Amino acid sequence: MRVSTFVTLISAIPVALSTPPQLPPISNTSALPVHFGVIVYPGFVFLDAFTVVDVINTLSVEFGLWPNMRFEVISEKKAPASTIPSISNSTFGQSVVVTSTYDEFIASNKPLDVLIVPGGYSSRSAIPTAAPFIKAVYPRLQYLLTVCVGALITAQAGILDGRNATVSKSNWANKTARAPNVNWKAPARWVADGNIWSGSSTASGLDLVLAWIGHVYGQPVSQYLGYLYEFDRADNSTDDPFSGIWEAVS
Ligand SMILES: *[C@@H]1O[C@H](CO)[C@@H](O)[C@H](O)[C@H]1NC(C)=O
Ligand SMILES: *[C@@H]1O[C@H](CO)[C@@H](O)[C@H](O)[C@H]1NC(C)=O
Ligand SMILES: *[C@@H]1O[C@H](CO)[C@@H](O)[C@H](O)[C@H]1NC(C)=O
Ligand SMILES: *[C@@H]1O[C@H](CO)[C@@H](O)[C@H](O)[C@H]1NC(C)=O
Ligand SMILES: *[C@@H]1O[C@H](CO)[C@@H](O)[C@H](O)[C@H]1NC(C)=O
Repeated sequence: MRVSTFVTLISAIPVALSTPPQLPPISNTSALPVHFGVIVYPGFVFLDAFTVVDVINTLSVEFGLWPNMRFEVISEKKAPASTIPSISNSTFGQSVVVTSTYDEFIASNKPLDVLIVPGGYSSRSAIPTAAPFIKAVYPRLQYLLTVCVGALITAQAGILDGRNATVSKSNWANKTARAPNVNWKAPARWVADGNIWSGSSTASGLDLVLAWIGHVYGQPVSQYLGYLYEFDRADNSTDDPFSGIWEAVS
């Protein structure tokens, strides 16, 4: 398993290109997403949210797309959202600034093209407010991207019923039993079903967002970003050694 993964990665990244990578043109001439947002909640995992967001930030700068792009950090309350789980007594963590509450966002009728739903500790306590928000905003979206147990929050909005999706592979049987109407996939580093793209655990967010950028902005754009990040990308969505490690099967 590890050996074949190693060979796949080696074959995906050339030792050297004949010329260094050049910024490619964006091949997609249809309307590109403009309004992006991420939800956050107590105990959200920083990298679940910000691997995806950071690559989109870099896309906006490198490809000069930022003049049209807008970003919202959306949460239950208009207060800094902390990575500290509500169920712990920890004081160790960081907070991000929230730009809109769920209620404000729904009431405002603002457009939203792409929503990112990260996983986290205390994701269960996020469900009562986050799932209704996701359900209400989903009809406005072009794409919904989940990382880790963000898929379990999204499943509670009912929009994954009958769809293919994945989630982080540890404790797989327990997680998937919480949303039995979803076609949970393992092995899967990420899964795309229509406009819902779900990733596995935290680090898969990079593979997920690069695959999604390849779909929307063109493969040369995502390949360029992968080189810029110096990331040994898995570009085969079912090449997932962690399903074996965590004994996850669909
Ligand atoms: C948090 O602290 C309270 C009071 O000291 C204690 O009863 C509780 O068990 C602690 N919770 C956790 C998750 O450590
Ligand atoms: C999953 O595990 C949690 C706690 O470990 C438990 O409360 C819950 O009932 C389990 N859910 C399922 C569907 O097995
Ligand atoms: C969902 O998974 C099934 C079985 O793996 C596959 O046949 C089907 O094409 C997938 N659906 C979509 C929309 O990708
Ligand atoms: C272009 O972007 C649209 C909107 O995201 C998407 O539906 C379509 O698949 C993309 N087309 C190509 C050729 O990349
Ligand atoms: C993707 O990875 C899976 C699992 O390693 C393998 O069976 C499959 O052949 C690979 N697909 C491609 C197109 O390389």
